[in-house]
Formats: sequence, structure tokens, C-alpha cells
Amino acid sequence: MPTSEVAVAADRRQQTPAGRPEQAPAGHQEQTPAGHQEQTPAGRPEPVIRAEAVVAGYGAAIIVREVSITAGPGEVVTVVGPNGSGKSTLLKTLAGLITARAGHIWHGDADVTALPAEARARRGIAYLPQEREVFASLTVRENLLMGGYGLSRRALKAALERAHGTYPALSHLARTPAGRLSGGERKTVALARVMMSSPSVVLLDEPTASLAPMPSAQLLEQDVPALAAAGVAVILVEQRAVQAIAVSDWVYVLVGGAVELHGQAREIGARGDIGAVFLGANSDHAAVSGGAPLPGPAGDTEPGGNAAVSQEEAPQ
Ligand SMILES: Nc1ncnc2c1ncn2[C@@H]1O[C@H](COP(=O)(O)OP(=O)(O)OP(=O)(O)O)[C@@H](O)[C@H]1O
Ligand SMILES: [Mg+2]
Repeated sequence: MPTSEVAVAADRRQQTPAGRPEQAPAGHQEQTPAGHQEQTPAGRPEPVIRAEAVVAGYGAAIIVREVSITAGPGEVVTVVGPNGSGKSTLLKTLAGLITARAGHIWHGDADVTALPAEARARRGIAYLPQEREVFASLTVRENLLMGGYGLSRRALKAALERAHGTYPALSHLARTPAGRLSGGERKTVALARVMMSSPSVVLLDEPTASLAPMPSAQLLEQDVPALAAAGVAVILVEQRAVQAIAVSDWVYVLVGGAVELHGQAREIGARGDIGAVFLGANSDHAAVSGGAPLPGPAGDTEPGGNAAVSQEEAPQ
């Protein structure tokens, strides 16, 4: 199966174009909820986290509709979609803050669907919500030490070295109270703190949300890839879709709580119709139709390489 294909979910059913592999461990055959056999695309690592047909919501409202998503070690997997499409709800479900009503979530070989958030965090599934940053009154070093709470002295030292190795810019800020840092630096500290617990999965909800374009670019182009380079499976939710897709391996487009489209990041980034996919559910995204790059919240219009691609797979 070529890895270059991009899948579009027809009518938001669990269907994919003929022959398109769904999410499953590399090289494995798997029974999908729709009942057909599908394969993982060659070239993707064995998933460390895998959601299968997950359904979740609040009260009577179903928000996440049979979503299947995977991420492997070293991958940046980005979830984009219109406001209110369920991206944060999906991340919370993966983190265990919301219990899936149907489907399964696997962490490695373990079914963690019923595990609470704390247990998932202990297993190495780290979640960084948009609003949580740093302890402002503590120094950068103290913030990092908090991230390594419970580690032995030796493990703590190793974790600090690893965090500083991944984010060298923090070294000269070690004694600075985090409250005095810029927004971008605070985000870097938050990522470094997450690193301290040696997670295998990091779930990032809109890390650039409150940042100006420059620190956003730094975060997406350097800090997030650095996490993946350390072997972490990163699932990133981002409004700055063009920039996020540019640093991602795999992309899922969530519309109305369902995966409308997913595929290799460079294929998705090259499509001219992602705006139209967004448009299907949210007219706020009208500006991104017609092959224009997807804007971020601050109107980032970085050239996205939206060269024409086959429209055969466009949603009907
Ligand atoms: N705690 C909650 N209780 C009830 N409904 C909620 C709750 N949180 C979110 N929702 C609803 O779930 C839907 C999806 O919200 P969610 O925050 O997952 O979307 P999102 O894709 O992350 O949006 P955004 O891009 O604006 O962050 C929305 O209709 C929202 O109103
Ligand atoms: Mg959100």
C-alpha cells in the first residue's frame, strides 16, 4: 500500500477509498468497526497509542464520532479542523479526562480505555491542555523538577539533562522565575516539564494559541519536533494548520467529530481542497477555500504549498 494516499471519509462513515489502509499496527491486519480488513500504511511506525472507533461526548451530546487515530514513536501527528469539531474533546478522551462511550484506546499492547487520566499519565501518556503552562513563582529549574516529581535523585538528574538536551535554550534560564518568561519561553518550559516524566505519548492542545507568530513558529518548527526526535509520539491539535502540517508526519482532519480526511502530512499539505473540507462544517473557514493556505488564528498565511493535487479523493 503506498503511503502517499490521502483518505477522505465518505459521508463520514468509517469508509476509506478502496484499498486505503486505516489505522492499525504496522504490518498487522485488523478488523475495523465497519467489518472490513485494512492495513496500516507502510512506513509508519508501530503505534504507541491507538484509538479505534472512539465515541465520546458530554451528557447527552455525542461529540467524537467513531474516531480512529494512531501515533508512533517519533511521529508528529496533527489534528486540525474547524472550531467546535471535537479536537479538544478527542485529546481529553485519549488522556482519560473523558471516558470513551464506545471504541477502544490502546497504549502499546494495553487497552487503557477504562483507565482514569492519572493512571494513563503514570503509564506515560502526557497531556498538555491549552491553558496550563508553568508555575509562575517557581524558577525554570523548579518547574522542571516538578515535572519529575517522584523520580529518584539519579533519575531526576538524568531527566533534567535530557530536558536541557532537548531544549538547550532553557539552560541559561534555569534560575529565572517562570513568570518572567515570554509566552513562547513558558511554552518551552511546559514542554520540557512534560519531558521530565519520560512520556511515550504527548498530547498537545493548541500550544500556540496565545502566542505571537514568531514564538509560534519556534514552537512548531523546533520545540514540537524536538519532542518527537526524542522518540515521543506527539499528537498535536493546532489552529495554525499550515505550519503544523508542515512539521507533521501524519494529519487527521476532524469535521463534526469525525475524521473527514487523513493522510501523510505532505500529501494533505499539498491538497487544494482542505479549506473545502473545513467549509463542510464551518463557514468561518470560508477564507481557506479555493486552494488558499489555511490561516491560523492570527491569520498566519505562510505559503503552504497548496499545489494542485488530484481532486478525485475530494469529499463529495
Ligand atoms: N465541558 C463541555 N460540556 C459540554 N459541551 C462541551 C464541553 N466542552 C466542549 N463542549 C462542546 O463540544 C463541542 C466540541 O468542542 P471541542 O472543544 O472539543 O472543539 P474543538 O475542536 O477543540 O474547538 P476549538 O477549535 O474551538 O478549540 C463543542 O460543541 C463544544 O461546545
Ligand atoms: Mg479545542
